[in-house]
Amino acid sequence: MLKYLTAGESHGEAIIAILEGMVSGLKVSSSVINRELKRRMQGYGRGERMGLEKDAVNIISGLKNGATLGSPIAMVVNNKDFSISSLNALSSPRPGHADLAGALKYGHKDLRNILERASARETVARVSVGTVCKILLMEFGIDILSHVVMIGGVEAHTKDLTFDELRTLAEKSPARCADEAATKLMCEEIDNAKDAGDTLGGAFEILVKNVPPGLGSHVQWDRKLDGNLARSLMSIQAIKGVSVGLGAIAARRRGSQCHDEIIYIRERGFSRKTNNAGGIEGGISNGEEIVLRAYMKPIATLKRPLRSVDIKTKKQAKAEVERADITAVPAAGVIGEAVTAFEIANAMCVKFGGDSLSEMKRNFEGYLEQVKEF
Ligand SMILES: Cc1cc2nc3c(=O)[nH]c(=O)nc-3n(C[C@H](O)[C@H](O)[C@H](O)COP(=O)(O)O)c2cc1C
Repeated sequence: MLKYLTAGESHGEAIIAILEGMVSGLKVSSSVINRELKRRMQGYGRGERMGLEKDAVNIISGLKNGATLGSPIAMVVNNKDFSISSLNALSSPRPGHADLAGALKYGHKDLRNILERASARETVARVSVGTVCKILLMEFGIDILSHVVMIGGVEAHTKDLTFDELRTLAEKSPARCADEAATKLMCEEIDNAKDAGDTLGGAFEILVKNVPPGLGSHVQWDRKLDGNLARSLMSIQAIKGVSVGLGAIAARRRGSQCHDEIIYIRERGFSRKTNNAGGIEGGISNGEEIVLRAYMKPIATLKRPLRSVDIKTKKQAKAEVERADITAVPAAGVIGEAVTAFEIANAMCVKFGGDSLSEMKRNFEGYLEQVKEF
């Protein structure tokens, strides 16, 4: 089983991740992690800090000669903008952020003691962990992409695009959206929100291809793959909804218009003509592409701040204005890929076990043979 912990504050010395349970013999290069960290910083609508930071991971344990040892992998990304003890104290909590709830809970009179850790800078650690997991998944042919499907009220139309087309188009788009016309409108919408001192949310889709049937389990609530994916995606800062396959749309349909009829072709085995279930039934992957969506609320820090109350004076005040993004949906998609990679990699480790990559591959191939002969 895989697990990870993150540590570090936004303007602290570094962001740190420890990933435990990874098999030995997996080749991991810090340049691949750095490439993903760069993707996390991009996207139209990000704040000034994104130009400032150039994240570079330092893998300080769990690796020898570029391959995993099976021991915990510790990764450190230093913050260039390191100034936590000299930053001014803050006392007007931002509606929509962790400021007030966190201050009440931990008894802090300086909101910075909360927001520095609540900040999405923490996701540097999750992207580092997720990249190691992606590298593992690639050994089994499992590939993950994300693309933005909505920013503000602007929706993308990408229904007929293939996995590869979606990836190529999204990576070229400043909004990480595979629909060129929608990209233009999204960027305009971001400019308009910026001019108004406001912020935007939106949604991204995650696709996972070549997932074998049988990851996750129906037998216990905490082994369900959809449940674990939803928890991980929902734990990304500002994600307020997650759907699998048709998601909420399924609730409006009749069964006959919702469920994916089963077919059998000798060379392919069992499959479906539609994939409304998003590749998961009964908490178990069914062999179809996994399709997830995550919905992000607008950024809580507004240039034109909302009304708040100063926690020291208890007088009406404007919420604090920190340097902030107008929207971060494109970056959230990259983080979504990372946490999805962790959950799929974990489910793979649970199902195929093993302490080394070669042992895991033997188990995987034996299982594929079993499924073929079913
Ligand atoms: C990639 C990314 C960047 C973010 N940037 C900001 C930001 O610049 N300013 C801000 O107020 N919130 C930002 N957020 C959202 C906050 O971190 C989040 O709203 C806050 O931690 C409270 O958590 P909650 O929204 O999940 O309740 C960002 C989120 C993500 C995923």
